[in-house]
Amino acid sequence: MPRIDRILAHNLGLSRRVATRLFRDRRVTLADGTPLTDPTLKVAPSQLPWTVRVDDDEHSLYARYHVLQHKPVGVVTALRDGRHPTARGLLGDEVPLADDLRAVGRLDLDASGLLLWTTDGALLHRLTHPRYAIPRTYQVALAAPFALPDDLGAVVLDDGYRPAIHALAPIERAALHPGLGVPDGCEHFAEVTISTGVFHEVKRIFAALGSSVVGLCRVRYGGVELPVDLAPGEHRALDLHALFAGIHPRPPAPGESDDLAAAAGADDDDDDDDG
Ligand code: URA
Repeated sequence: MPRIDRILAHNLGLSRRVATRLFRDRRVTLADGTPLTDPTLKVAPSQLPWTVRVDDDEHSLYARYHVLQHKPVGVVTALRDGRHPTARGLLGDEVPLADDLRAVGRLDLDASGLLLWTTDGALLHRLTHPRYAIPRTYQVALAAPFALPDDLGAVVLDDGYRPAIHALAPIERAALHPGLGVPDGCEHFAEVTISTGVFHEVKRIFAALGSSVVGLCRVRYGGVELPVDLAPGEHRALDLHALFAGIHPRPPAPGESDDLAAAAGADDDDDDDDG
């Protein structure tokens, strides 16, 4: 479990030495005025956030932080980019632990929708690793009708890759999420759920089915939905750690390397933190 002076240092961007001194000098209190004088006090991440006062300033202390963002079209899923605005830039610097946030998967420049962010590296690994097979649902606007396959497992992309398609169906305009941008005159729409995450996967699935994607919006990631009242560019906090607490990897397929063994050790440490 992390020490309170380390947590304060991390949240306020202080050196550990300076943070430890603040406790020893009785300059840190709980919101009700109770002094926190022991810099070695251990706090389970699941007990946070705590509100503390350092001198006259109030701060919320986190061990981890997660954000749900509605990524707009025209923004890259990157921490930095020389040409386009970034999804990270839209979050601003007021978000707790902002420097540690990493995107859970990517959305293309011309795609919109649900983009999750987390500071928790072990959770990020679980949410993106193919063995955890988290389903992601996309709505698409199409330039032409597509050929609905009888067998979803038989769809093959241009490079021979077989995506893990869980559901695929045409949908009506009335069922579209408001986050999907629909070009004028477009009359064909579909929803697809996949648990793989290869480059341009949804666009390549519809190309393999004889159509072409002209609008793409991720509407769900695991059990997390893109809220209809979250405007493009906006974000809100959510507890991804709790929402994905019960996920487990599938066993390795024959011939697949069991690369999760080491990660499982790291996850155990993470869970110990919760006390
Ligand atoms: N598939 C795509 O083709 N693009 C995305 O942004 C996400 C999934």
